[in-house]
Amino acid sequence: MNIERRHFGHTLDDEQVDLFTLTNNNGLEVQITNYGGTVVSILAPDRHGRFGQVTLGFDNLQDYIKKSPYFGCLVGRYANRIARGKFTLNGLEYTLVQNDGENHLHGGLKGFDKVVWLAGEYAGDGEVGVSLHYRSQAGEENYPGALNVRVLYTLNNNNALKIKYQATTDQDTVLNLTNHTYFNLAGSGDILGHELTLNAGRFTPVNDTLIPTGELRVVTGSPLDFTTAAVIGDRIDQDDEQLNFAGGYDHNWIVNESDDALVLAATVYEPASGRTLETYTTQPGIQFYSGNFLDGSAAGHGGVVYHRRSGFCLETQHFPDSPNQPHFPSTILKPGDLYSQTTIYRFLSR
Ligand code: GLA
Repeated sequence: MNIERRHFGHTLDDEQVDLFTLTNNNGLEVQITNYGGTVVSILAPDRHGRFGQVTLGFDNLQDYIKKSPYFGCLVGRYANRIARGKFTLNGLEYTLVQNDGENHLHGGLKGFDKVVWLAGEYAGDGEVGVSLHYRSQAGEENYPGALNVRVLYTLNNNNALKIKYQATTDQDTVLNLTNHTYFNLAGSGDILGHELTLNAGRFTPVNDTLIPTGELRVVTGSPLDFTTAAVIGDRIDQDDEQLNFAGGYDHNWIVNESDDALVLAATVYEPASGRTLETYTTQPGIQFYSGNFLDGSAAGHGGVVYHRRSGFCLETQHFPDSPNQPHFPSTILKPGDLYSQTTIYRFLSR
């Protein structure tokens, strides 16, 4: 196994940014930059052993800084939306920036996706990786408490890319971390022919601004039922209120419970290449986003133009807007507590 570190560029504030290349014994290669803790590239084998690019991303740092729709990045402090950018904690109201219509999205104007993380190479037992650290000051993006956040990405010889998140705070705060990698297991074209299975019998329906209504709804009989494998494109344009609100799939599914254990939350199979992606997580939710907002304005790896629905995300997470929804699993982190979550993206072919 191997890990290489090289210079990737400089931010507008002249901070140096590096690119780490991890390779396992099967030849699977993952590139990660400490700008946003971003997964830049993943080369994974098809059923004939041919390697291809399976993520959406750019070859250079400047494109990430100027025009990335959250390609591959870490998201924090709060992944997804907080209604009207407001929440109350211990009787105090906090006002966050409204950067998605009237709502707060993905941590604000300069979230964890746009900061430079301290990074180091990591070598463990049967795995190589990148360890990232970011100290978020109290009041950053108007969230309370100073946070120490550590993310460890590792790659092993089972073709598993593991993301381990840990954080502590010095004051009560809210936290919801995820990774926003867009996948396309065919390497180009749209993702409508991919087959998805979700280990989730319920989801959190949203209103027309994509804020959960608070209901936990069973998927049965709806186009959001992926409890058995279904082709993503088969029902995506059905006249369904939830799909209409989001322009396709962009919802939080409730991963079938299992006491914080790592569970297989999602499996995606791409029939032409045979490439398969499994997603395991300790998190209670998973946002399946079908790339509805991609609009062809960005081109990335190999000159591929990223049109609408040319990538999908499986963002493991706590439920959107949890700080305003007391019956959702809590996203409050207190001093002395250790926030700890793990997600694994594993590549297979069949
Ligand atoms: C998440 C959100 C989407 C969109 C993307 C980024 O998946 O749920 O609505 O904001 O991130 O474009």
